[in-house]
Amino acid sequence: MRRCKIVAVDGPAGSGKSSVCSKTCQRIGWTYVNTGFLYRSVAYITRQRRQSLASDRDLSEVIDAFCEDLHWDPETQSVQFQNLDISSHLNSDQAGQDASLIAKNPLVREKLLPLQRKLALRAPVGAIVDGRDIGTVVFPDADLKIFLTASLDERARRRLQQLHTNAANWDSELANIKQSILLRDEQDAARGAAPLKQAADAIVLDTSGLDLAGTIDRLVELIRERGLIES
Ligand code: C5P
Repeated sequence: MRRCKIVAVDGPAGSGKSSVCSKTCQRIGWTYVNTGFLYRSVAYITRQRRQSLASDRDLSEVIDAFCEDLHWDPETQSVQFQNLDISSHLNSDQAGQDASLIAKNPLVREKLLPLQRKLALRAPVGAIVDGRDIGTVVFPDADLKIFLTASLDERARRRLQQLHTNAANWDSELANIKQSILLRDEQDAARGAAPLKQAADAIVLDTSGLDLAGTIDRLVELIRERGLIES
């Protein structure tokens, strides 16, 4: 039997998973595991080594090295590989698109699966694990499954605000961001291997009309209602 409790949070790009999950974990004293960073790291390292994102052999080599030498700090979410902190390179749009590209590859998914489980199951009390296939593949037996979503307009607006609030060319930047989010969601949902999809037993949490604090309150309430934390 599993020792720690698991809440699976899946959803499309830009739905606010990482902000909501990390702040919820701070509030309830749980561990936050953002599985997207694994796909982003593997894509980043592969590019850095001038290896190919399309080659099974190259990706396999990188993943083996990464699994052996990853130092991940759940408190700060920093990622170190071969004594270098690569965290600041993982949040770019390019890293997200590259991650989505390699995430289509069943070999990559298969090789990263045990690592995702290992990082989450190390949590002393409970873990909120976010991604695209957490409730369907990584932890189909999760104690609670959430599908976090928001309208495309809302997700693009939030992402743009994060980048630079006073952009002079707001409208054209918004259109670019929408396009990039849409492309990634389509790619993630259309792939054969563990596509982005709502688990049959997931609760949908649409944050379109909610701010961050309201969304965290709602998630904490759902975790409490499920009996995973004390009231
Ligand atoms: O969540 P994040 O945007 O960091 O994820 C980057 C990409 O990694 C996603 O677009 C998706 O293709 C891939 N991913 C995945 N399965 C996960 C987490 C991320 O396929 N569990």
